Amino acid sequence: MPQSKIAGIGMYVPQNVVTNQDLTQYMDTNDAWIQERTGIKERRYAHRTDETTTTMGLEAAKIAIERAGTTAQDIDFVVFATLSPDYYFPGCGVLVQRALKMKEVGALDIRNQCSGFLYALSVADQFIKTGMYKNILVIGAEKHSFGLDFSTRGRNVSVIFGDGAGAVVLQPTEEKGAGILSTHLHSDGESAEILAMYNPGTHANHWTDEPYADFDDAPIAQMFMSHQMIDHAQNFPFMDGPAVFKKAVVKFPEVILEALDQNGLSPKDLNMLIPHQANLRISQFVQQKMGLTDDQVYNNIQQYGNTTAASVPIALCEAWEQGKIKSGDLVCLAAFGSGFTWASALIRW
Ligand code: COA
Repeated sequence: MPQSKIAGIGMYVPQNVVTNQDLTQYMDTNDAWIQERTGIKERRYAHRTDETTTTMGLEAAKIAIERAGTTAQDIDFVVFATLSPDYYFPGCGVLVQRALKMKEVGALDIRNQCSGFLYALSVADQFIKTGMYKNILVIGAEKHSFGLDFSTRGRNVSVIFGDGAGAVVLQPTEEKGAGILSTHLHSDGESAEILAMYNPGTHANHWTDEPYADFDDAPIAQMFMSHQMIDHAQNFPFMDGPAVFKKAVVKFPEVILEALDQNGLSPKDLNMLIPHQANLRISQFVQQKMGLTDDQVYNNIQQYGNTTAASVPIALCEAWEQGKIKSGDLVCLAAFGSGFTWASALIRW
């Protein structure tokens, strides 16, 4: 059975740099608070009309395809991870298929938020291993800036997130012990509502004790997105930051150790850990808990903020471009986020 290898990787971030200081025009916040709590100095925001989640994903994809030494016409499957799609439906995968003039290949969208890219990578890995596909394009991209509450009310969430995209092309390799060694996926829906964007949705407050206020006034159940939701800012993401932090610092090490254990390896064998860039304090906590040195962990949240499904491929691409990941290196990708879902992938580069 072949293994999958990352044959090409690319990233794209918008040119527009937004500093912490820039955000103070819109909300009561300050550079010291943001840096101390999250490590973030600046992030990128997409152009309002010229750049979408898909167009950013396309830019990253074109680089990954070229570096893989292949063409868009040779791609035989697309997996696109995002929580900020261009349309509620259809997904971004088909927009990529159209824009790159691909053959009528399968296109799958993944909705696993911060661990979306790792879920996508794992799905693609299975298709390569079974021999079903030979060139799979995996993209993680987000345009968060279009859906955040930039008033003081939303500051605990808005200061954290940024826009960008990363992509890889997976191909089979017969080289023993090379490529993706294993992937590990987990979820616990118990806390689904503590890091979530409830609307638009069909929930009608079914999962909470909140009364569904103006439902009775509607002639039929057409309450996908109501004026009331907008008036109460229920169309923005909600996050209980401290609760997320507490769970993340437990689940990150757990899923990294699971990957290492399954392959008979230990943290000292790791050349590079690429953690999802949720918060620099979370990454530092994980590094310390696992006894890893600064050279064994790559962080770039300082420049880009948390780009959710794009953060792992962006960090992986940057680390590789900077020569911090070389052939034969043991690389672990790990993520944790909304759901909760968490995941890891262990790769012999
Ligand atoms: N600027 C200034 N003050 C802010 C602020 C901001 N952007 N956001 C929140 N505050 C205020 C709060 O209103 C609160 O004020 P109060 O004490 O007067 O009520 C105070 O700062 C502390 O808020 P709290 O939420 O307890 O802060 P915290 O130390 O937990 O840090 C996070 C908040 C969000 C940075 C932190 O909880 C975190 O990083 N959690 C993990 C989030 C994460 O990783 N999300 C992505 C998941 S993939």
